[in-house]
Amino acid sequence: MIEKEILSDTDSIYNYMDGEKVLGYLEIRNVDNVIDIMNLYVNEENRHKGIATSLMNEVIEKEEYSRIMLEVNENNNEALRLYNKLGFKEISLRERYYGEDTAIIMEKVK
Ligand SMILES: CC(C)(COP(=O)(O)OP(=O)(O)OC[C@H]1O[C@@H](n2cnc3c(N)ncnc32)[C@H](O)[C@@H]1OP(=O)(O)O)[C@@H](O)C(=O)NCCC(=O)NCCS
Repeated sequence: MIEKEILSDTDSIYNYMDGEKVLGYLEIRNVDNVIDIMNLYVNEENRHKGIATSLMNEVIEKEEYSRIMLEVNENNNEALRLYNKLGFKEISLRERYYGEDTAIIMEKVK
Protein backbone atom coordinates (compact mmCIF):
# COMPACT_ATOMS: atom_id res chain seq x y z
CA MET A 1 0.00 0.00 0.00
CA ILE A 2 1.33 3.44 -0.94
CA GLU A 3 0.88 6.41 1.42
CA LYS A 4 1.60 10.02 0.53
CA GLU A 5 3.25 12.19 3.18
CA ILE A 6 3.14 15.94 2.49
CA LEU A 7 6.27 17.73 3.75
CA SER A 8 5.63 21.24 2.41
CA ASP A 9 3.86 23.12 -0.39
CA THR A 10 6.29 21.55 -2.87
CA ASP A 11 7.77 18.41 -1.28
CA SER A 12 6.19 15.02 -0.64
CA ILE A 13 7.22 11.46 0.07
CA TYR A 14 5.42 8.42 -1.27
CA ASN A 15 5.98 5.50 1.11
CA TYR A 16 5.46 1.89 0.07
CA MET A 17 4.12 0.24 3.24
CA ASP A 18 3.82 -3.33 4.47
CA GLY A 19 1.73 -2.74 7.59
CA GLU A 20 3.77 -0.30 9.70
CA LYS A 21 7.00 -1.04 7.81
CA VAL A 22 8.32 1.21 5.02
CA LEU A 23 9.76 -1.02 2.25
CA GLY A 24 10.65 1.82 -0.09
CA TYR A 25 10.07 5.51 -0.67
CA LEU A 26 10.08 8.14 -3.37
CA GLU A 27 10.64 11.78 -2.51
CA ILE A 28 9.56 14.43 -4.99
CA ARG A 29 9.49 18.18 -5.36
CA ASN A 30 6.74 19.68 -7.50
CA VAL A 31 7.25 23.33 -8.41
CA ASP A 32 4.87 24.81 -10.97
CA ASN A 33 4.02 21.33 -12.27
CA VAL A 34 7.66 20.37 -12.87
CA ILE A 35 8.50 17.38 -10.68
CA ASP A 36 12.03 16.59 -9.52
CA ILE A 37 12.75 13.09 -8.26
CA MET A 38 14.80 13.87 -5.13
CA ASN A 39 15.21 10.31 -3.81
CA LEU A 40 14.13 6.80 -4.71
CA TYR A 41 15.07 3.90 -2.48
CA VAL A 42 13.88 0.33 -1.92
CA ASN A 43 15.23 -1.82 0.94
CA GLU A 44 17.72 -4.33 -0.45
CA GLU A 45 15.73 -7.40 0.61
CA ASN A 46 12.62 -6.09 -1.17
CA ARG A 47 14.09 -5.24 -4.58
CA HIS A 48 12.95 -6.78 -7.88
CA LYS A 49 9.37 -7.04 -6.70
CA GLY A 50 8.08 -4.01 -8.62
CA ILE A 51 8.07 -1.63 -5.62
CA ALA A 52 10.01 1.19 -7.32
CA THR A 53 7.87 0.78 -10.44
CA SER A 54 4.71 1.08 -8.31
CA LEU A 55 6.02 4.19 -6.55
CA MET A 56 6.96 5.87 -9.83
CA ASN A 57 3.63 4.94 -11.41
CA GLU A 58 1.74 6.38 -8.43
CA VAL A 59 3.46 9.76 -8.99
CA ILE A 60 2.86 9.56 -12.75
CA GLU A 61 -0.86 8.83 -12.20
CA LYS A 62 -1.65 11.04 -9.19
CA GLU A 63 0.51 14.16 -9.49
CA GLU A 64 -0.18 17.09 -11.78
CA TYR A 65 2.87 17.69 -13.94
CA SER A 66 4.06 18.89 -17.32
CA ARG A 67 7.40 17.10 -16.94
CA ILE A 68 9.33 14.96 -14.48
CA MET A 69 13.11 15.34 -14.15
CA LEU A 70 15.81 13.30 -12.42
CA GLU A 71 19.54 12.70 -12.18
CA VAL A 72 20.98 9.21 -12.20
CA ASN A 73 24.53 7.86 -12.00
CA GLU A 74 25.63 6.55 -15.43
CA ASN A 75 26.65 3.28 -13.70
CA ASN A 76 23.35 2.71 -11.89
CA ASN A 77 22.03 0.09 -14.32
CA GLU A 78 19.05 -0.94 -12.17
CA ALA A 79 17.76 2.61 -11.94
CA LEU A 80 18.50 3.37 -15.61
CA ARG A 81 16.52 0.30 -16.73
CA LEU A 82 13.62 1.36 -14.54
CA TYR A 83 13.54 4.93 -15.85
CA ASN A 84 13.89 3.82 -19.48
CA LYS A 85 11.04 1.36 -19.00
CA LEU A 86 8.87 4.19 -17.63
CA GLY A 87 9.51 6.37 -20.69
CA PHE A 88 12.20 8.75 -19.39
CA LYS A 89 14.60 10.13 -22.02
CA GLU A 90 18.17 11.31 -21.58
CA ILE A 91 18.38 15.08 -22.10
CA SER A 92 21.90 15.93 -20.92
CA LEU A 93 24.96 14.85 -18.98
CA ARG A 94 26.78 16.36 -16.00
CA GLU A 95 30.31 15.05 -15.83
CA ARG A 96 31.92 14.21 -12.45
CA TYR A 97 28.61 14.97 -10.72
CA TYR A 98 29.02 11.81 -8.59
CA GLY A 99 32.76 11.92 -7.84
CA GLU A 100 34.33 10.44 -10.99
CA ASP A 101 30.95 9.34 -12.36
CA THR A 102 28.75 11.25 -14.74
CA ALA A 103 25.13 12.07 -14.00
CA ILE A 104 22.56 11.45 -16.71
CA ILE A 105 19.75 14.00 -16.61
CA MET A 106 16.48 12.40 -17.69
CA GLU A 107 13.04 13.78 -18.36
CA LYS A 108 9.56 12.47 -18.95
CA VAL A 109 7.16 14.84 -20.64
CA LYS A 110 3.43 14.34 -20.08
C1 LIG B 1 16.81 1.41 -8.32
C2 LIG B 1 15.84 0.81 -7.28
C3 LIG B 1 15.03 1.92 -6.64
C4 LIG B 1 14.91 -0.20 -8.01
O1 LIG B 1 13.95 -0.68 -7.06
P1 LIG B 1 13.11 -2.06 -7.29
O2 LIG B 1 11.93 -1.98 -6.38
O3 LIG B 1 14.01 -3.20 -7.19
O4 LIG B 1 12.63 -1.88 -8.80
P2 LIG B 1 11.49 -2.75 -9.52
O5 LIG B 1 11.31 -4.04 -8.79
O6 LIG B 1 10.31 -1.89 -9.71
O7 LIG B 1 12.15 -3.01 -10.90
C5 LIG B 1 13.38 -3.73 -10.94
C6 LIG B 1 13.21 -5.00 -11.69
O8 LIG B 1 12.34 -5.93 -11.03
C7 LIG B 1 11.46 -6.51 -12.02
N1 LIG B 1 10.20 -6.89 -11.38
C8 LIG B 1 9.12 -6.12 -11.19
N2 LIG B 1 8.15 -6.83 -10.57
C9 LIG B 1 8.65 -8.07 -10.38
C10 LIG B 1 8.15 -9.25 -9.79
N3 LIG B 1 6.92 -9.31 -9.27
N4 LIG B 1 8.94 -10.34 -9.74
C11 LIG B 1 10.19 -10.30 -10.26
N5 LIG B 1 10.72 -9.21 -10.83
C12 LIG B 1 9.96 -8.11 -10.89
C13 LIG B 1 11.24 -5.41 -12.98
O9 LIG B 1 10.78 -5.89 -14.23
C14 LIG B 1 12.60 -4.84 -13.05
O10 LIG B 1 13.36 -5.64 -13.90
P3 LIG B 1 13.93 -5.02 -15.20
O11 LIG B 1 14.73 -3.84 -14.71
O12 LIG B 1 14.74 -6.12 -15.76
O13 LIG B 1 12.72 -4.63 -16.01
C15 LIG B 1 16.62 0.02 -6.18
O14 LIG B 1 17.54 -0.85 -6.79
C16 LIG B 1 17.36 0.91 -5.19
O15 LIG B 1 16.79 1.36 -4.17
N6 LIG B 1 18.65 1.19 -5.46
C17 LIG B 1 19.47 2.01 -4.56
C18 LIG B 1 19.05 3.47 -4.62
C19 LIG B 1 19.05 4.03 -6.02
O16 LIG B 1 19.94 3.74 -6.81
N7 LIG B 1 18.04 4.85 -6.32
C20 LIG B 1 17.90 5.50 -7.60
C21 LIG B 1 18.67 6.78 -7.59
S1 LIG B 1 18.48 7.68 -9.13
